[in-house]
Amino acid sequence: MTSRPLRVAIVGAGPAGIYAADALMKSETPVSIDLFEKMPAPFGLIRYGVAPDHPRIKGIIDALHKVLDKPEIRLFGHVDFGVDLKLEDVEKLYDAVIFSTGAIADRELKVPGIDLERSYGAAEFVAWYDGHPDFPRTWPLEEEKVAVIGVGNVALDVARMLAKTGDELLPTEIPDNVYQGLKQNKAVEVHVFGRRGPAQAKFSPMELKELDHSPNIEVIVDPEDIDYDEESIAERNRHKMTDQVARIIEQYAIRDHGDRPHRIYLHFFENPIEVLGEDGKVVGLRTERTELDGTGNVRATGKTTDWDITAVYRAVGYLSDDLPEIPFDTRAGVIPNAAGRVLKDGSHLTGVYTTGWIKRGPVGLIGHTKGDANETVACLLEDHAAGSTFKPETPEESAIEKLLEERGIRYTTWDGWYRLDAHERALGEPHGRNRIKVVEREEMLDASGA
Ligand SMILES: Cc1cc2nc3c(=O)[nH]c(=O)nc-3n(C[C@H](O)[C@H](O)[C@H](O)COP(=O)(O)OP(=O)(O)OC[C@H]3O[C@@H](n4cnc5c(N)ncnc54)[C@H](O)[C@@H]3O)c2cc1C
Ligand SMILES: NC(=O)c1ccc[n+]([C@@H]2O[C@H](COP(=O)([O-])OP(=O)(O)OC[C@H]3O[C@@H](n4cnc5c(N)ncnc54)[C@H](OP(=O)(O)O)[C@@H]3O)[C@@H](O)[C@H]2O)c1
Repeated sequence: MTSRPLRVAIVGAGPAGIYAADALMKSETPVSIDLFEKMPAPFGLIRYGVAPDHPRIKGIIDALHKVLDKPEIRLFGHVDFGVDLKLEDVEKLYDAVIFSTGAIADRELKVPGIDLERSYGAAEFVAWYDGHPDFPRTWPLEEEKVAVIGVGNVALDVARMLAKTGDELLPTEIPDNVYQGLKQNKAVEVHVFGRRGPAQAKFSPMELKELDHSPNIEVIVDPEDIDYDEESIAERNRHKMTDQVARIIEQYAIRDHGDRPHRIYLHFFENPIEVLGEDGKVVGLRTERTELDGTGNVRATGKTTDWDITAVYRAVGYLSDDLPEIPFDTRAGVIPNAAGRVLKDGSHLTGVYTTGWIKRGPVGLIGHTKGDANETVACLLEDHAAGSTFKPETPEESAIEKLLEERGIRYTTWDGWYRLDAHERALGEPHGRNRIKVVEREEMLDASGA
């Protein structure tokens, strides 16, 4: 056993990686942690997923500051694992590595026509409106009637962002290119499609209620779409949130419609079976009516409807990317693991761990990544106590800086984040806004003093 601190590399500075650093800091073992992040700024989907009109959730960043302010934790931003840093480097420099690289892409939806022009993945639209540097700066918002497939919280975010006006969103942190794009948005009808019923919707009650808070959005549900089978009723009795969501949907269904200019229709029991096209572009969506089968699942009825919409956003879940040299289960879209210990051919790959969405799939809230991190870190510490970690040649803290500098990598630091943060706040100040987000990678690097 060495007298130096336990050296841990964490790859991915989203909430999962930061909570893993926090869990390590709270252990009795002296630790020295380096967090690697491929974006110039940390915070993962809190910065590049959470909707701009959710400042309270974006504010979780302030709580995470407390973790990253600790001197035992260093941030190396703009470092892409697999490109700038390899597994063999990590083995030489650290006792262990935790992968917390999350998810940024869309899951596939295998229906005919899904590749037509004006058919989009929700994740791409989210990355655009949240100012991700690696996505296009403009977004086509020419269509008046738009479909969103899926009834999860991402579908709600996308529907809300499509239905709100640019001016409603201006007080948020959206960058100027996004404001300019949203100002031109022509959408007046957004149709959201769930293939099952109200008791199977994945919405959170608060987000579902919030749809109604916009003075510009009318939320409409067809009373014919309210139905429950035995399992749906049991599920409502078992889970308060399921019951709350079903009740809110019922409220939307029974009330009279007002005359707010934009409408969000929540449709249930409509399974998308084809995106209809003409001249290579979306001109409609065909759905097949479903009905509950008693188990909370649905069966097809054979009755189809063609919806008059001219753009489609699929919000059917996110997908993680594999990492070079790290085992990956392509079917489940996760790094195979047992309680966070990464498995290769069924055995633990010594020194290698995982946490967050890449560990258990792209479902769950920010807070849920805390429990993941605790579990993973407990395994790591147990293995360390048993002497089963990497045997690094150069565990000195200076070794990684030397390596990145030798490779000419312009990395950002935690101090750099404070500089970027101050820069973004200064951009917002003259306009009475809390911040305006910087989109360009070069500007982020310059403002961070990389
Ligand atoms: C659109 C959307 C909105 C959401 N809104 C909310 C919300 O309002 N409230 C809520 O509680 N939850 C929300 N969530 C869920 C929440 O974002 C996730 O639970 C959480 O972000 C998962 O954390 P993570 O750290 O595992 O992954 P991520 O947040 O994805 O972080 C992973 C990090 O790893 C980095 N990375 C990836 N590859 C590499 C590499 N090769 N090298 C170095 N770094 C790498 C990424 O850049 C990223 O910073 C939302 C999710 C989405 C998709
Ligand atoms: N504000 C917030 O708190 C917030 C915001 C955004 C995201 N998040 C969280 O982030 C996580 C990911 O959210 P998400 O919306 O991407 O995923 P999700 O909650 O899993 O929802 C995915 C939706 O897509 C549907 N779907 C999947 N495959 C389909 C198909 N082939 N055809 C039709 N519909 C299909 C699912 O329906 P079935 O159930 O029938 O499969 C489900 O309604 C969730 O935990 C979510 O709560 C939270």
